Amino acid sequence: MTRIFSGVKPTGHLTLGNYLGAVRQWVAADQEPDEALFCVVDLHALTVEHDPARVRRLSRQAATLLLASGLEPARCTLFVQSHVDEHTRLAYLLECTATDGELRRMVQYREKATRARDAGEGVRLSLLTYPVLMAADILAYGTDRVPVGEDQRQHVELTRDLAVRFNQRYGHTFAVPEATHPVVAARVMDLQEPTSKMGKSGDAGPGVVFMLDEPAVVTRKVMRAVTDSGDGGVVLDREKRPGVANLLDILAACTGGEPAALADGYQGYGALKRDVAEAVVETLRPVRERHAELAADPGGVEKVLRAGAERARGLARPVVDRAYRAIGLLEP
Ligand code: TYM
Repeated sequence: MTRIFSGVKPTGHLTLGNYLGAVRQWVAADQEPDEALFCVVDLHALTVEHDPARVRRLSRQAATLLLASGLEPARCTLFVQSHVDEHTRLAYLLECTATDGELRRMVQYREKATRARDAGEGVRLSLLTYPVLMAADILAYGTDRVPVGEDQRQHVELTRDLAVRFNQRYGHTFAVPEATHPVVAARVMDLQEPTSKMGKSGDAGPGVVFMLDEPAVVTRKVMRAVTDSGDGGVVLDREKRPGVANLLDILAACTGGEPAALADGYQGYGALKRDVAEAVVETLRPVRERHAELAADPGGVEKVLRAGAERARGLARPVVDRAYRAIGLLEP
């Protein structure tokens, strides 16, 4: 049986990038007879400037959206990270396994630390140690497979390195996990800045489609997407025409086509954008509708999260206890 784990951070409203890059893979995974765990990783939202009330609101909304996307509580475990102590318990042991140098090399740390310094904000120590907590999230469950977008590849690589190092030093304790990415749309780009990832922290960004955007808003954002100058109609050229490539990827992800083949069907950008807008609206429509129903009963969502945390605790506890013994700590 394969163990699957993945998570989303409540730092902003979930985007089309989160949906196509990650959440859709999760919904597909929980159909299999595997053990799948999905987590709203709220502790990770505290690594940058945050507003407590907003984190609470976004955590609830993220959980509701995951259910609305089709995760079935009967087939998978959905929970909130801070409800299960094993994550932070294991993170410390992994901090004693990782090195300062390997954490400072993480691309996301370097980008976010630079942004915080430029904004005159302090860089929280937890921003540096974040990938260690992420490794703990994954390793605490004996995870084999981590379905994520392309931007998480380096963090999962670090997780693998830490698992292997810990096992070599202290005896076999952790499964060594593997990241999986969707075939298309593993990295959905910002519609206004197609060389940057579509990210949820750019809230209100005109280039970011949020999962809960109204159809008219989605359409406006897609129709205003930056395309590229150049003759020769619609062609897939990721280097020279990143804006068009992004639209073709999104269309392929929403309709099940193949980006290069889809390009052949268009003479101009206008028609392409109209089809992309419609495909995105139709992809998100059932999720938005179901979200409205579920949001009307917050008690129902809370019940799912409580049961999820209970189950997650039961799975993580023996793995983390084993790690405590292996590293040399006395049994209480
Ligand atoms: P987060 O919250 O930034 O994103 C959640 C998931 O969405 C994917 N994703 C994208 N995929 C394609 N295109 C995009 N533009 C895009 N933006 C986001 C991400 O790759 C991710 O799969 N560190 C993680 C959260 C985390 C985690 C974990 C994930 C914490 N612990 C353990 C897996 C396992 C993060 O910040 O994801």
